[in-house]
Amino acid sequence: GAVLLLRSELLTWYDREKRELPWRTLAVTEPDLNIRTYAVWVSEIMLQQTQVATVIDYYNKWMKRWPTVQDLSAATLEEVNQMWAGLGYYSRGRRLHEGAQKVVTELKGQMPRTVDSLLKELPGVGRYTAAAVGSIALGQVTGAVDGNVIRGLCRLRAIGADSTSPAVTEALWDLANTLVDPDRPGDFNQAMMELGARVCTPKGAVCSQCPVQSHCHSYRKVHVKQEQNSKKL
Ligand code: ADE
Repeated sequence: GAVLLLRSELLTWYDREKRELPWRTLAVTEPDLNIRTYAVWVSEIMLQQTQVATVIDYYNKWMKRWPTVQDLSAATLEEVNQMWAGLGYYSRGRRLHEGAQKVVTELKGQMPRTVDSLLKELPGVGRYTAAAVGSIALGQVTGAVDGNVIRGLCRLRAIGADSTSPAVTEALWDLANTLVDPDRPGDFNQAMMELGARVCTPKGAVCSQCPVQSHCHSYRKVHVKQEQNSKKL
C-alpha cells in the first residue's frame, strides 16, 4: 500500500514538474534501442561530474556530430577531446570513445542490453551509471543510487548513520530496488534525482513542496516534535 502510493505521488509530481532535458525527450521519442542506450550512456557520463545546465549544450553538440555508437567509434581521440573541452575530467570522454570502439569491434555494434552487461563491458560505467542507463534507456527494473538519491533516501528513512559505509550503501540500494516502479523504472529513478536536485537539496529540504512528505520519516520526526513542544506550552 505505502510503496504504491509513494510511487504514484512521486511520478505524478515528476510528470508535472520535470525539466525537459534532451536525453529525457529522446527516451520518449527514440525507438531504436541501440541509439537510446548510446545516448543515455553519453548523457550519464557527462552528468557524472558536471551540472545538468552545463551538460545540455555539450550533449546536443555531441549527438549531432556522432549520432550513433558507430559514428563515435570512427572519430579520433583528438576530435573527442576537442568536443569535451570545457567539461573537465577528460578520461570520461576517452572512456566513451574506448567503449564505442569496443562495442563496434567486439560486440558487433550492439550496445549492451542489460545492467550487468553495461557494467561488465563499458569502461567508466560503474554500478550507478549501469543502473541509470539500464533503467532509463532499456526499462530495466533497478533502483539507481547516486549522491542526490542517497540524500533523499536517508531523509526519507531518517538514516543518520554514515551513508558512505558499505552497510548503509547496500541498505540504500536495497531500499531503492524496493521502491522503484517496475512499470516506469527510468522515470522513477529520474524523479528521485529530480527530488534531490530541486526539493531535498544539499542546502536543505523544502518539505512544503515535497510530493512524498507523508512518507518521510525525517519530516515526521520534526513534525511530531513540534506537536509535542506545543502541548508543553
Ligand atoms: N543526473 C544524473 N543523471 C541524471 C538525469 N538522467 N537527469 C537529471 N539529472 C541527472
